[in-house]
Amino acid sequence: MNYESLQTALKHLPLGGLRYLEQVGSTNDIALAWAEEKKVRDYSLVVANEQIAGRGRNGRKWQTPPDSALAFSLLLRPNKVEASQLALFTALGALALTTTLQENYSLKAEIKWPNDVLIEGKKVAGILVEANWVGDTPTSIVLGMGINIHPTAVPPANELLFPATCLDVALSKPVVREELLSGLLNALIDWRPRLGGAEMVSAWDEHLAFKGQQVQVQGRARQVIHGTLLGINKDGSLRLDTVESIHFGDVHLRPSRV
Ligand code: BTN
Repeated sequence: MNYESLQTALKHLPLGGLRYLEQVGSTNDIALAWAEEKKVRDYSLVVANEQIAGRGRNGRKWQTPPDSALAFSLLLRPNKVEASQLALFTALGALALTTTLQENYSLKAEIKWPNDVLIEGKKVAGILVEANWVGDTPTSIVLGMGINIHPTAVPPANELLFPATCLDVALSKPVVREELLSGLLNALIDWRPRLGGAEMVSAWDEHLAFKGQQVQVQGRARQVIHGTLLGINKDGSLRLDTVESIHFGDVHLRPSRV
């Protein structure tokens, strides 16, 4: 992968700009800093071959060794409606990946609410959405995604909170990162006008992992809610067979048997 190969693979997309880095701290940091430049447009993209300070959710590290993964951050300029639906951009990214894997690779993937993509119960990708703010309005959204492509992207089992896999193993063939990225961005651009709409919520619900299973959800205050996972509510919250719906936040969703 290099700048030219990315440019060729992505030339049919309405990208605002493209940056490719062989090695970077975090692509999200580069995109957040880039977004401060007023002229930088919607769909500007930062891709790296290696991250040495990649970030996951809840302050966790995200490893991206060289040549192993697809790590990118997409800078979006939200309109007013989108700016009030920030939490849904994680689902937008997850849905874009699951639909791309299904349509372009005939691979079934599921969404572990709110931000992970799983194949056969193992994590293959994580999403971290961050934003630049003016007051309480996000002026730019950075959708960062890390996808394990080759086995070298998967951290050793003793460092994992949840089992993980990679696309080469799931498909039993090498995946070309530029091709995957092209399909994924295409799907994301296609889903974006339906953000938060009935069609998106229903597709999200269709791809939801652990549906019908007993799960435990741990909230910010460390309280654990047990129940059967029923699906996604209209507003994107999680529906369990308990009285409460689980809204976005620092939650850890686990099947009860793990
Ligand atoms: C998670 O599962 O906790 C989210 C992981 C998000 C990782 C991606 S890799 C590209 C972008 N840059 C980062 O530093 N993080 C995100």
